[in-house]
Amino acid sequence: MSKRQLSPDFDSKEFLAQYWQKKPVLLPKLIPNFHDSLAPEELAGLACEELVESRLITEFEAGKWQVRHGPFEDSDFTQLPESNWTLLVQAVDQWVEDVADIKTLFNFLPSWRIDDIMISFAAQGGSVGPHYDYYDVFLLQGQGERSWKVGERCDSDVALIPGEELSLLQDFKATMEFNLTAGDALYIPPRFAHWGTATSDSLCYSIGFRAPSMAEMIEGFSDFIIKDQDPAQRYEDSDKQTELRGAEIKPELLEDSYRQLTERLAEKHQFTSWFGCHVSQPKYPELIQPLDKALSSHDFAALLADGIQLTKNPSSRFAFMESAAEGCVLLFVDGAMVSFSMKQLSNIVAFCEAVDIVPGTSSDLLTDPEIVELLRQLLNQGSLLASV
Ligand code: SIN
Ligand code: CO
Repeated sequence: MSKRQLSPDFDSKEFLAQYWQKKPVLLPKLIPNFHDSLAPEELAGLACEELVESRLITEFEAGKWQVRHGPFEDSDFTQLPESNWTLLVQAVDQWVEDVADIKTLFNFLPSWRIDDIMISFAAQGGSVGPHYDYYDVFLLQGQGERSWKVGERCDSDVALIPGEELSLLQDFKATMEFNLTAGDALYIPPRFAHWGTATSDSLCYSIGFRAPSMAEMIEGFSDFIIKDQDPAQRYEDSDKQTELRGAEIKPELLEDSYRQLTERLAEKHQFTSWFGCHVSQPKYPELIQPLDKALSSHDFAALLADGIQLTKNPSSRFAFMESAAEGCVLLFVDGAMVSFSMKQLSNIVAFCEAVDIVPGTSSDLLTDPEIVELLRQLLNQGSLLASV
């Protein structure tokens, strides 16, 4: 199969400046000559697997949708009507290498922002109803055709149809309409209303991006710094207790505590560590399993000498940050951080960009003892996988 490429007409700089996180846009033939990674029957097969998240959404009467959650049985599919239903399978990139490869085309955006690739198969007339999502998404059309209506950006208090498991919009007004065929992509920023309907049996690849909510950040960062707090450090009364009225909490009494608390939350260095760990958290940690027997340095060197090939676990996430102020480079893998001196910057960049690490071809990585030790640890913890 020929390697997919983005259209030479797609200008990523212009896209980032004009549209990313700002407004929806149709990207016609973003991937020219697009070929599907799997057939609808294979998608249905995945939806029958225990570990795969999937949903079947049927519009059983005009404007009324029913949702069922997988895993499904073959018979669930044979009983479906000819039209008006959609099968959605989450994180197909975890299971199908050709789908994971699609993510590499979006390398004009940070890889740690990508959440997953969900694939939907919609029978003619199938739709999941008018809604908005909290994340950026590229809706990449596979086989067949789908028509998309796009509306305005929604506020959190927008009216939803009551009693629907799907959060569907009560008053959807389309301001744009597009018909997508294979290789076209529609970019939708967070909270823009959208509604796709299959005009023929069709596949759609949703390349979704993650963005932690403020609530998640406050909770996650607080949890992260809690472990460094001295339990003996407590609220203390200041000496400004004059003219106290019984049950009164005097603003002056809060001041020191407030200052101490905000100083801790304003720890940029700590926040940096937490942020990198947080955004590199895997979506499915259960798919990253340590080796039954950890490899010693000696065992690992022997495997490398045998020409073992290292591949990144498709469930693992890698990110790095060059910290000029600290004079170091921070590598984040699956929610953990390792710090290297700046002289390792090019190796860390190369490691994050590498798809495979193959003895003989990734020579710089495999000749540096510090990086070899990193690779050994990542193989032991399951973030790297080995094959011969
Ligand atoms: C679909 O694939 O039909 C639904 C995707 C979406 O609207 O987010
Ligand atoms: Co959506």
